Amino acid sequence: MSDLHADLQALTRTHREEHGCGAQTFSDGASLTELVARLRPQRILELGTGLGYTACCLASGWKYAHIDTIEGDTLHVTLAREQIAKRKLGGQITVIHGLFATELPKLGSVYDLVFFDGYVPDRPTILMLRDRLRTGGTLVCANLDLTAGSGAMELMNELSDPMYWRRDGVLEAGATVILTKI
Ligand SMILES: C[S@@+](CC[C@H](N)C(=O)[O-])C[C@H]1O[C@@H](n2cnc3c(N)ncnc32)[C@H](O)[C@@H]1O
Repeated sequence: MSDLHADLQALTRTHREEHGCGAQTFSDGASLTELVARLRPQRILELGTGLGYTACCLASGWKYAHIDTIEGDTLHVTLAREQIAKRKLGGQITVIHGLFATELPKLGSVYDLVFFDGYVPDRPTILMLRDRLRTGGTLVCANLDLTAGSGAMELMNELSDPMYWRRDGVLEAGATVILTKI
């Protein structure tokens, strides 16, 4: 499958150089589109909107999927909303402006798929996401290559715990893992 939003990925890379921020864009959005096309999750949660590239990739996988995506940077929120509207995906994507720790507890729904792409993942955040995911739902956790030290060990112990997770694959040469909540 080709990347339907490659232009937005390129725009995000340019923005990152100019803004000097950490909005490193996901390298393989087409794989997210394919995953959603295969699993058909109705309710998707994303942490780390950036300029909206991955939210648009997720939305393009299935027209009945709805994505709530959380972003803390005001400029990113503005640019993401513009891009989402331009692609006519506003009916499928809600950009929530705020910090993960503040916004996650406010969410009413349980999700079928959760995508973490907000800098370095840690165990406390993954535990919050586990709570928001239905049993049998999918967690896609990016940026594992950014973890280090004891935090990395705690995170790996959580993600490889067979009580809670089954590993279903990797993306980005292993930097992103796909897990099913059991
Ligand atoms: C790696 S970028 C997301 C890139 C986007 N998914 C893409 O592929 O283009 C991470 C984003 O998460 C946001 N972020 C990081 N930590 C956050 C937090 N604790 N609360 C809210 N947003 C956060 C950053 O502002 C940044 O835009």
